[in-house]
Amino acid sequence: MSMGPGLGRPDRAEESADESPADQPSATTPSGHALWGNTTSGTAENVGYVPTNSGAQAPGQRNGPSQGESELVREALKDANVSRETTGTALKTRPIDKEWPRPDRCRVITIANQKGGVGKTTSSVNIAASLAMHGAQVLVVDLDPQGNASTALGIDHHAEIPSIYDVLIEDAALDDIVVPAPEIPNLHCAPATLNLAGAEIELVSKVARESRLRRALESYDTDKFDYVLIDCPPSLGLLTVNALVGGDELLIPIQCEYYALEGLGQLIRTVDLVKAHLNQKLKVSTILLTMYDARTRLAAQVAEDVRNHFGDVVLNTVIPRSVRVSEAPSYGQSVMTYDPGSSGALAYSEAASEMAHTGAAK
Ligand SMILES: Nc1ncnc2c1ncn2[C@@H]1O[C@H](COP(=O)(O)OP(=O)(O)O)[C@@H](O)[C@H]1O
Ligand SMILES: [Mg+2]
Repeated sequence: MSMGPGLGRPDRAEESADESPADQPSATTPSGHALWGNTTSGTAENVGYVPTNSGAQAPGQRNGPSQGESELVREALKDANVSRETTGTALKTRPIDKEWPRPDRCRVITIANQKGGVGKTTSSVNIAASLAMHGAQVLVVDLDPQGNASTALGIDHHAEIPSIYDVLIEDAALDDIVVPAPEIPNLHCAPATLNLAGAEIELVSKVARESRLRRALESYDTDKFDYVLIDCPPSLGLLTVNALVGGDELLIPIQCEYYALEGLGQLIRTVDLVKAHLNQKLKVSTILLTMYDARTRLAAQVAEDVRNHFGDVVLNTVIPRSVRVSEAPSYGQSVMTYDPGSSGALAYSEAASEMAHTGAAK
């Protein structure tokens, strides 16, 4: 696999939708190499495709409020100060209470990318919330010592509460630590506390150190859930390895930005090692493009490169940059409850719908 080289990020001014294309950063290296191997230069039409009822849209389409827009769209356009391009006329919501198909057996989906800030936690929380709001029973396992997923689900995670640390290190049962999320029925969380920061080191001397989460899941009644989503820390250490060993599927969020593809080769190699030695059934089932800003040609280029390389595991829906998405956690909420009509909420709902409808085959 040809991975993108470590690219220097050229200095650039704050991008605006009015920038001329010539001012925009190029998707090639200074030496003219594409960000990703085997890249063909794409047109705006064949990248960043999203279904018409998604919160995002194909690059190049610029829209402000247009005729016939619903209240919902106007509401969504409140995000316009972040990206005018990623909200707009295509927004139509599906009924929030409509049931989606539920899998025959629990799907355990690990959300990993060793880069920080690519949208792992945001995607875990909002996809989990969307699935729960459409009738699925969902558990989020917070495996990041920062406990951001716990925060976003409104769950207390100070040092004294029983947490995933106790499961991994003290052999506690998941039953003892799983709590319901206060805002959304059907949604549960195994919280993380700062104790977990020490777990990377403490795990080293433990028996079956890579498989402790899997063992905990196996001795837990996961049948009562349709989905278990495991939010990983930004590293490829033992916590992430536990998540890869514990999961059936891997969802990789990729931020549509410079350096997006850097490190992905290392992640894929780690997945291959885990498959070969620890968890044969693991597969990269889903790739989600996040923080898409249609004002930049770079975002479109990254999206195209990822689609060319990974094919149909890449969800059609892309998640736009949306200020509502970033605000929601500070209110202890997912964006699905904080602002269900926002472009970010609609896109996450659409992404979750794709995952529910395509099932593990994706
Ligand atoms: N679609 C989005 N629009 C705007 N901000 C976002 C979006 N997705 C994530 N963010 C913000 O980016 C930051 C990193 O996201 P996060 O999900 O915490 O990444 P990770 O878990 O991979 O470290 C957070 O502050 C989050 O609120
Ligand atoms: Mg995170």
